[in-house]
Amino acid sequence: MTIKRVGIIGSGIMGSGIAEVAAKAGHEVVLRSRQQASADAMVASLEKSLAKQVDRGKLEAADRDATLSRVTATHDLHALRDCDLIVESVVEDLSVKKELFKELDLLVNDGCILATNTSTLPVVEMAVVTERPERVCGVHFFNPAPMMSLVEIIRPLTASDETIASVTEFAEACGKKPVEVKDRAGFIVNALLFPYLNNAVRMLENQTASRDHIDEAMKGGCNFPMGPLALLDLVGLDTSVAILDALYDEFRDPNYATAPALRRMVAAGHLGRKSGKGFYDY
Ligand SMILES: NC(=O)c1ccc[n+]([C@@H]2O[C@H](COP(=O)([O-])OP(=O)(O)OC[C@H]3O[C@@H](n4cnc5c(N)ncnc54)[C@H](O)[C@@H]3O)[C@@H](O)[C@H]2O)c1
Repeated sequence: MTIKRVGIIGSGIMGSGIAEVAAKAGHEVVLRSRQQASADAMVASLEKSLAKQVDRGKLEAADRDATLSRVTATHDLHALRDCDLIVESVVEDLSVKKELFKELDLLVNDGCILATNTSTLPVVEMAVVTERPERVCGVHFFNPAPMMSLVEIIRPLTASDETIASVTEFAEACGKKPVEVKDRAGFIVNALLFPYLNNAVRMLENQTASRDHIDEAMKGGCNFPMGPLALLDLVGLDTSVAILDALYDEFRDPNYATAPALRRMVAAGHLGRKSGKGFYDY
């Protein structure tokens, strides 16, 4: 099935980025947030992002207008009824995602594929609450979605080959490089990345080195574009704790046991860039 109309649910960091990618690639996009004001704010931030690209000569004004004309914003889940694909990108909480999948399953067309942008959670658990487990999978974009080329296509035991082929084609149409991976916590990237990020927090806790020296070391020594503490701020510390908890839950590997400092920062409301304060101030 060729995907034309895409629903995006969640107005956070990832929902906005995926919406931009899908609309620029020529898909009709329906953005849904629980509050109409947040859905409208997503469109406003998309307008801003596209305007910047026009100013920098990276996008034609006509393409900006065409992209915006393909996007609608709503608070009403029913507006997603005619979508070919829905990508949910709400909070990393399995019970919230399962409720959403149950609700979507009842209201969208039979052929619609339901996908999650989860970073670590078991996709099969979202699949089995629906009557269409063969049409449920993971489509994991990276942050910031407009810049990062990778999309992990997560295949739960229940997904059909047709579903995986359709979402792979969708990711390619969005200009991304899809890789297929089984439904296992953290998939490829986060399973390998998060022990590193978590151990950087432990190193800071132990006062082995300062924040700036830890980040500088990994940039200068490994040629990484940003250090681990700055990357945690970009991901969001609450999302990072949820990712580590899901990994620990599945593997019981001590490298995945969330560093206490990270949990305390989340409790204090220091969530990284999105709250204005994390390991750095924004
Ligand atoms: N941040 C990253 O780097 C990153 C990268 C890839 C994937 N993801 C995944 O994308 C998803 C969203 O992450 P994000 O970083 O955009 O988070 P975010 O905190 O920026 O946004 C979360 C969104 O979920 C909504 N939400 C919160 N509680 C809700 C509820 N009970 N019901 C419905 N919506 C609710 C919020 O209003 C917000 O729009 C998560 O599954 C996360 O694991 C995140």
